[in-house]
Amino acid sequence: MERWTIPSQTSTIFEFDYSVQAEDMRGLYEKAKRDQWNASRDIPWDTPEPSDGRTLADELVDIHGSPIWAKMSEADRVELNRRITAWRLSVLVYGEQGALLACSQLVDVVTGTDEKFFQATQVVDEARHNEVLERYIQHRLGGLHYPMPENERVLFDVILGDSRWYIKTIALQLVAETFAVALFKMMNECAHDPLLREVCRRILQDESRHMGFGMLSLPAVIKHASDAERREMEDVTCLALEKVLSGFFPIDAYRDLGFSPAQIAEVRAYRRDVAARNDYAVFRKYFKRDMHTSMVTNLARIGLLTERVRPRLAALGIELPAVA
Ligand SMILES: [Fe+2]
Ligand SMILES: [Fe+2]
Repeated sequence: MERWTIPSQTSTIFEFDYSVQAEDMRGLYEKAKRDQWNASRDIPWDTPEPSDGRTLADELVDIHGSPIWAKMSEADRVELNRRITAWRLSVLVYGEQGALLACSQLVDVVTGTDEKFFQATQVVDEARHNEVLERYIQHRLGGLHYPMPENERVLFDVILGDSRWYIKTIALQLVAETFAVALFKMMNECAHDPLLREVCRRILQDESRHMGFGMLSLPAVIKHASDAERREMEDVTCLALEKVLSGFFPIDAYRDLGFSPAQIAEVRAYRRDVAARNDYAVFRKYFKRDMHTSMVTNLARIGLLTERVRPRLAALGIELPAVA
């Protein structure tokens, strides 16, 4: 069984004052306790499978509408649809494992009882997401997993290897989780299988709390940071954005379906062409809406993105809003 070991060194902060000190953080903890759900009990696992065998809407397959797609048989389209789902869910299930580990570290390294209490609930949330996605993969996709993409590995190396809580929180709760939310929203609205829609809907219920932790805890750190520390936080934000917004191409799914190197090159060229024409496929539309509008605005508002990184963001197709 493959495992990945990430060296890390942290200092555990033991608190002695358990009174409420951060009312809003305690409120988030209360919400987390109130809104727990159970993947065994609350997901309708007996939902019948769609009769055409598809899990996602075909519009979410990158080459939908292309000349290559037009030449494919119905059986191959269904198979590609399922493999693309398995590829996306593999990326997400590794992300949930990474989030579980990062939040268990955060319980240790974060200061403040209210913050530790909240992080303890996020540990349970991420374990449940890891569990429910794996159960879906087993239940509907015959346990098919694809390897962890290199960009995801690099990102979790940073999140899990850095000892500072705010670096973990910026990269995990603010960037990686917002990316995951965009994917879950897209699948919640466009999945063909009602069971997958329900799994995504349930996961999304937990995610706004996780983003909330970052938005509540980071402003004070950013305010008191030195210029050098602030630049470092900004660079980590950009690095995380670069890792989540590039390099995610399900090449293995096409290869496994028997696409030749020439055909894969044709798929890549088609994707590049669609992007260049600004003729955004459904996938990109969701990302533009969720990543660009909500996340980038939030990051800029709390001072994590400044004029200094405007060119770096522009290379990702992100326009930085005017910052004060
Ligand atoms: Fe999660
Ligand atoms: Fe999360």
